[in-house]
Formats: sequence, structure tokens, C-alpha cells
Amino acid sequence: MADFHIAALDIGTARARAVIADQLDDGSLIARGIADVASDGLEKSLIVDFPVACDVVRNAIAAAEDDAQLKISDVYLVLSHPDVRPAVQTGTVHITNPSGEVTEADIDAAAEAARQARLPPDRTVIHSIAQDFSVDGHEGILDPRGMSGNVLRHRMLILHGDTTALDNRVRCAASAQVNVLDSAFGGLCAALAALSPAQKAAGAVVIDLGAGSTSFVVYANRSLVHAGSLGIGGNHLTNDLAWGLRLSFRQAEQLKLEYGSALPRARDEHRSVSLEADGAFPARMVRLSDAHAILHARMDELLRWVRSQVDAVGALHRIGGGLVLTGGGARLDSADKLAGRLFNAPCVVGRPAGIAGLSGEAAGPAFASVCGMLRYAAMQQPGPPRRRGWRRWFDRLLGANGEPVT
Ligand SMILES: Nc1ncnc2c1ncn2[C@@H]1O[C@H](COP(=O)(O)OP(=O)(O)OP(=O)(O)O)[C@@H](O)[C@H]1O
Ligand SMILES: [Mg+2]
Repeated sequence: MADFHIAALDIGTARARAVIADQLDDGSLIARGIADVASDGLEKSLIVDFPVACDVVRNAIAAAEDDAQLKISDVYLVLSHPDVRPAVQTGTVHITNPSGEVTEADIDAAAEAARQARLPPDRTVIHSIAQDFSVDGHEGILDPRGMSGNVLRHRMLILHGDTTALDNRVRCAASAQVNVLDSAFGGLCAALAALSPAQKAAGAVVIDLGAGSTSFVVYANRSLVHAGSLGIGGNHLTNDLAWGLRLSFRQAEQLKLEYGSALPRARDEHRSVSLEADGAFPARMVRLSDAHAILHARMDELLRWVRSQVDAVGALHRIGGGLVLTGGGARLDSADKLAGRLFNAPCVVGRPAGIAGLSGEAAGPAFASVCGMLRYAAMQQPGPPRRRGWRRWFDRLLGANGEPVT
């Protein structure tokens, strides 16, 4: 018998997804209701038509409720956001215990000091994630409890985003008459769903390729060292095809989905495919080598941007666990091969793990974020999700001191 249900919602530029899962007594999750509906009202992962986006959210939640045969009152919300940025902050405290032993209270005090990020008023902290510690200048300590010393320094990665855009995303979700219990950065959610503990320990990069934005997270030295997002995604690939080959967006999307590749394909060098007319755009024959060259150029540019971000924190040669691609864009043929070449690392398409009952699309890379969000919620101790203390627990899970994710 299910103890209770957890629901997660991801409002994407192309699709809105909601998953309702039963959490059993042993903490495991079984998907019970799944919704994957066409989205509207967003551009580059930002809400540009609020009423339309609210309709999409209502549709997604209603579809998941119908599928699950139950009504929900609470959701956990994925933040797929185009300009999430990191800031590393350090908090310093003198160890108070007379024996000089580092206690939980010292760690909390150092974390609190680090969290006092000086951000502009238009930026909101999404996460403050433990990275590592130093005790009296000895660096790279993952957990200092029980060690002795005088001065404790705690390094945290603060992820922040545009205040108005984040608030409006929460308001949009709440417009469906549900409480938004908490929210989390989509890149982190994707990592939680699709990254194995071994990959995380060895260092890894997760890249979520959405329609309107691309998010990434970087683990190295057993902690989260970098994360961010950019308002470029699969829609840009489609637009490039449309502009370059004089097609409608719809024709270009069909071309990408059915015949696309991020690398040229020898077998398609002289092959052309036909596309049906779409309104004012006539039926066309298109050379696949042209389409692949256009898709390659944009995907290459996007992945190089992520690589430059990874390189900027010195992590390019510390990702022994390789690359994991998630999001719908990960399904583009050879995207994984191209990424593997650019990063000189193994690359796989990530699928959501740890939730039973997923099949078809829901078991694929586009569901990684929403499923990762569910796993966050479920990993709290058994019992209904509680608001208090959640965020702190959440951020520890994501960072250096997190529980192993299986
Ligand atoms: N088989 C495929 N080949 C190439 N691209 C694909 C394929 N399947 C889906 N896509 C692309 O993936 C993108 C949608 O991905 P996803 O559903 O993760 O985005 P989203 O969550 O709606 O958007 P975002 O998170 O960026 O706001 C679209 O650009 C779509 O064209
Ligand atoms: Mg998305």
C-alpha cells in the first residue's frame, strides 16, 4: 500500500511534464500518473504569456491527475531557467568548542556566514550547496566533524537566478490551485535522476538540452563545483534549419526529429528527403548533408560553451565519470558522440533512474528533470514531505556532504 503521493512539475518551453508517484513504506517510488503535454507561452525557458502558460500548467496537472486517478494539492517545481549563475562564497568561523573539536554548530555557523551572498536585488538564491571545508588552512576537507582546529572555513556554491522570472514561474504553477512546496534548478534535478554515484564520485558533467535553454552541472573532487544555464536550446537548432533551408518551423522540426544528426553521416552524403507543404511553405526536397551541417554547427557551438564553463573552473580533466546528456535535445542522433569528442570523455544519454513504472517517453532523457525532482522529495525520511528543513537537507544532498544517490 502506498503511504502517500508526491508530485513534481516541469514547465518547459516545448513540453510541460508532471509526474505523480506513490512512495511506499520503504521509500521507493512508483510512477502512478504521468503527463507530457505541449507547452506554450514560454520562450527561451521564460514565461512570456502568463495566462497561456497557466493553462498549460493546468492541463499538465489535470492530465497527471487523470492518469493517477487522484487529486493533488502539492507539487515540487523544477526551475528550468535560462540564466542561473554560480557564485562561490566562503564562510569563516572560530571553532567554539573548548576542546577545539569541530561540531555541527560550527558547520552551521560557517554555512550561514557563507550564505550571506551579496547579490544584486534582482537576483534570488536558488541553492546554497556545500562544497568543502578547510581547518586552519588545510583545504579540501569534505566533512570536518570531529576534527580539531581553531578556524573553520566553509566553501559553498550559491546558485542564483532572476528574481522576477523565478517568482512568476512559481506563481504560474500555483495558479493550478496547488501549493508549491519547493523548487530546484533543473540541471541539478537532471543530475540526481541520471548520474550514478560512481560517476559523481569520479567527476562528471550533466548537460540538460531543453528546447529553450541548456543547463549544466559539474561534479569534481566529490563536490558540485559549477553549474549554470544559457537561453539556447533545441529551438535554436530548429530555427537554424528553418532559416538556412527556407523551411517553416514545423517542417524544420520534423526534419530534425526524423532525420537530424549532430555529425555528418557518410551514408546520407547524397541522400535527400521530402517534406510536405506547410501553409505558405511549399513541399521541399532537402539534402541531409546540408541539414546535418547546420545542426552540427549549432550543437558544436553550444557544447563548446559548456566546455568553456567546465574549463573555467579547471574541471575539464577531472571528469573521469564522463558526460551525461539529458533533456529532449539529448535524443538528437550523434549528440552524445559529438559531446564525447569535444570533451574527450565518455558520454551517454541519461535516463531517469530510481522510479519504477516509467515507460516510453517517460523513461527517456526528457523526463530526467521532473523525475529528479521527485527523487529529492522522496529522499526525505519516510513520512509526508515537510516544508521545514527541506532546503537545507536538499542542498546537502546535492553537495559534498550528500547522501550517495543510488
Ligand atoms: N529525437 C530528437 N532529435 C532531436 N531533437 C529532439 C528529439 N526529441 C526532442 N528533441 C528536441 O528536444 C527539445 C525539447 O526538449 P525538452 O522537452 O527537454 O525541452 P523543454 O523542457 O520543453 O524546454 P526547456 O527546459 O528548455 O524550457 C526540442 O527542441 C525538441 O526538438
Ligand atoms: Mg526542460
